[in-house]
Amino acid sequence: MWTQKILLPLAVYAAAFVVGQEDRAQYALTDTGSTNGGNTFPGVARPLGMVKLGPDLYTGTDSYSGYQPTGNFTGFTMLHESGKGGAAKYGVVSQMPSNQTKNVLVDVSHVLASYRGQGLEQHFLGGNISVEREEDSARFFYTGFGTYDNGWNRAGPWTVYFCGRFNQPSTYKTFLGADFVTDDLVEFGEEPSYESKTARLGAVFSFTEYSLVSRVGVSLMSTDQACSNIEDEITDDMTLEDARDATRAAWNTEVFSKVSTSETNVTKLKQLYTAMYFMHLLPTNKTGENTLRESDEPYYDDIFTFWDIYRSLTPLLHILQPEYYEELIRSMVDVWRHDGWVSDARSSLHNGAVQGGTNGDIVFADAYVKGVRGKVNWEDAFSAMVKNAEVVPENNNDPRDPTGSTKEGRSALRDWLDLGFITPRFGRSVSRAVEYSVNDFSLATVALGLGRLGQFQTYYKRSHNWRNHWNKDMSALNFTGFLGPRDRDGFIAQDPLSCGGCYWQDFYYQALPWEYSFNAHHDIETMVELIGGAEQFVDRLEMTFTPGVSSGNAQFGHTLFNPGNEPSFQTPYLYSYVNRQDLTVQRSRFVAKSYFRPTPNGLPGNSDAGAMESWLLWNMIGLYPMTGQPIFFIGSPWFSDLTIDLGAGEKLEITAEGVGETTFYVQSLKVNGEQWDKTWVSWDDIFAQGGKLEFVLGKEQTEWATGDRQPSPGSHSVGEAKKLISRYLPEE
Ligand SMILES: *[C@@H]1O[C@H](CO)[C@@H](O)[C@H](O)[C@H]1NC(C)=O
Ligand SMILES: *[C@@H]1O[C@H](CO)[C@@H](O)[C@H](O)[C@H]1NC(C)=O
Ligand SMILES: *[C@@H]1O[C@H](CO)[C@@H](O)[C@H](O)[C@H]1NC(C)=O
Ligand SMILES: *[C@@H]1O[C@H](CO)[C@@H](O)[C@H](O)[C@H]1NC(C)=O
Ligand SMILES: *[C@@H]1O[C@H](CO)[C@@H](O)[C@H](O)[C@H]1NC(C)=O
Ligand SMILES: *[C@@H]1O[C@H](CO)[C@@H](O)[C@H](O)[C@H]1NC(C)=O
Repeated sequence: MWTQKILLPLAVYAAAFVVGQEDRAQYALTDTGSTNGGNTFPGVARPLGMVKLGPDLYTGTDSYSGYQPTGNFTGFTMLHESGKGGAAKYGVVSQMPSNQTKNVLVDVSHVLASYRGQGLEQHFLGGNISVEREEDSARFFYTGFGTYDNGWNRAGPWTVYFCGRFNQPSTYKTFLGADFVTDDLVEFGEEPSYESKTARLGAVFSFTEYSLVSRVGVSLMSTDQACSNIEDEITDDMTLEDARDATRAAWNTEVFSKVSTSETNVTKLKQLYTAMYFMHLLPTNKTGENTLRESDEPYYDDIFTFWDIYRSLTPLLHILQPEYYEELIRSMVDVWRHDGWVSDARSSLHNGAVQGGTNGDIVFADAYVKGVRGKVNWEDAFSAMVKNAEVVPENNNDPRDPTGSTKEGRSALRDWLDLGFITPRFGRSVSRAVEYSVNDFSLATVALGLGRLGQFQTYYKRSHNWRNHWNKDMSALNFTGFLGPRDRDGFIAQDPLSCGGCYWQDFYYQALPWEYSFNAHHDIETMVELIGGAEQFVDRLEMTFTPGVSSGNAQFGHTLFNPGNEPSFQTPYLYSYVNRQDLTVQRSRFVAKSYFRPTPNGLPGNSDAGAMESWLLWNMIGLYPMTGQPIFFIGSPWFSDLTIDLGAGEKLEITAEGVGETTFYVQSLKVNGEQWDKTWVSWDDIFAQGGKLEFVLGKEQTEWATGDRQPSPGSHSVGEAKKLISRYLPEE
């Protein structure tokens, strides 16, 4: 979706929808998470579409989605992100309606400002606007482009083209800098245009009517494409209501139809469809809009970021939108093919910024083990992964962390390869070490699938390196043994309940040593041993969820578990590894019920491009993915029945007898009609060809799961691991 129509003034926000039975869009509250640090985008968008039309508010702090609940309105702009932090991005191709003088200000130089003072602010580098008269008409239309750079991902210059049409006659003036440079009435045929660096550039259109329709198309390719995008998507004879209805219909058919339930509790329905809405805003499908290369492959942009979304969002996108997902995987490979590196984060056609490991590796492995093949070139995908694991990326001298590249790749690789651990000469040394281990496990998995046994062995061994950071002398709250910083001479003293600044140059990024010590997700069996066995493991998890036990880092919540950030996402489910599924349900349910609401302030932290909402969705479904393995934790569903359309005529049906606000512990479960005693199911069990989960829920905490423990594929000798992983790889 490249175009949007706006009716002035602000009527685009009026809502008087005809509510039909299948209009699940009525439950998607698009302002959820838009205040209180959720940073979601509350404007108008299509599923995974490029255009996000919304208002920009100026308050003197970063407006990450453009919107803030207070502040001075500076215009409607066409491109935004949703649920990101860091520093503002986009806020371009602006229109500012003014009722007082019946003007529309088109400001080519408008961008969202940043106030973080880290050299991350966007710049307007130059552009052009030209105004022409519509044929046989007193109406004018405008075309042009703006070139911008920087923002959170420190992008190089990129250009957006625009084309705007009004349905009312007007006069206009263009401006450059502070001066208006044309007369009120311009002669036909003398349309001015300007090329500019850092100046203000735009045009003001003056109308005689208070109400008018403005249609704007954008493109990354050309003004011609921007103009034809309007004609393709929002024709001259369409009303605002038509455009709105078409957008609602797209959400209903492409997204909300994928999950159905007979539930009537409106709060739950709002939580379900609102969360689905926000996990379908990013990444954006910009296929056909990539100016950087000639390619027939799909192109996806606005990845914020795999660090945020690989745990819960991409595995759910795979299930709900298999076509998008395969295209995303192909796009990742194609970005490597043309730019040299796969992205961990990307927007405006540029990679950056990498917060931890190269977590695109985990996304690849997840797609591989779950049988995504289609048009994906897996040999190329694996080459992209190997580059991440072997080649030190060129330092882009990011002031956030000058010790190595933040653009792409693994900049702490030198230590990783030479020493098997990461010394503090690199920022985020400990949190990256545990992520690099999971990344290397992902390489091992795909290598095995491709029959590359030598590489399987190499990366499998490297995936154990996180153990080299286990400092058995670190202790807190009567627990000993945590992931700690070390240099060549040995460990460095570290409080498990503090991550210092928790930022780019610290030992741990955005989470406590306590939390990261649970993050070697491929090698949980070893982690349980290091912690002191199953009982200690459960006690330590319980301490994580004990109210009032919190860290010295004020940014974290009232427990050591932080519902608002990704390194904690898996933690409430880890009880299942030692067959305490009842505690998995107790803790994950508590988090979902206490920190999420379908209200503007209803997210516990930044949405992170929908990562937060996808975490909630899994909780509602009653499953949780272990990304990179074809394995799902069993939770407890919120609905007496829920059906997920898996495409190709397959579906997953979930029923829950006895479901209620206080009756949510699993008493028993049947999987495809068979009585189940394991805490987990595999991709093949319920997703590959569909399946059926029949829960019986109740008040009692029951230790019903007594069967085979969840696999810990990273905890074995190379030979045993080869057998174990081969068993769960899809047959070719
Ligand atoms: C918003 O505009 C008003 C009126 O011009 C001004 O007084 C106020 O300082 C502005 N607010 C901000 C946050 O800039
Ligand atoms: C715009 O201004 C005109 C004239 O003051 C007024 O009649 C009209 O109601 C205003 N429209 C809106 C939506 O404020
Ligand atoms: C800017 O627009 C004018 C027409 O108004 C055109 O002649 C000129 O080539 C444009 N410049 C660029 C760089 O597109
Ligand atoms: C509806 O769902 C909400 C959210 O789960 C819950 O708090 C509320 O108690 C439910 N209402 C009824 C009548 O079950
Ligand atoms: C992505 O966009 C391209 C170009 O519009 C389109 O052909 C393709 O079908 C889109 N992908 C999906 C999954 O809708
Ligand atoms: C640690 O153990 C000591 C001695 O058993 C006990 O007094 C103390 O309360 C424990 N601390 C915590 C946080 O459980």
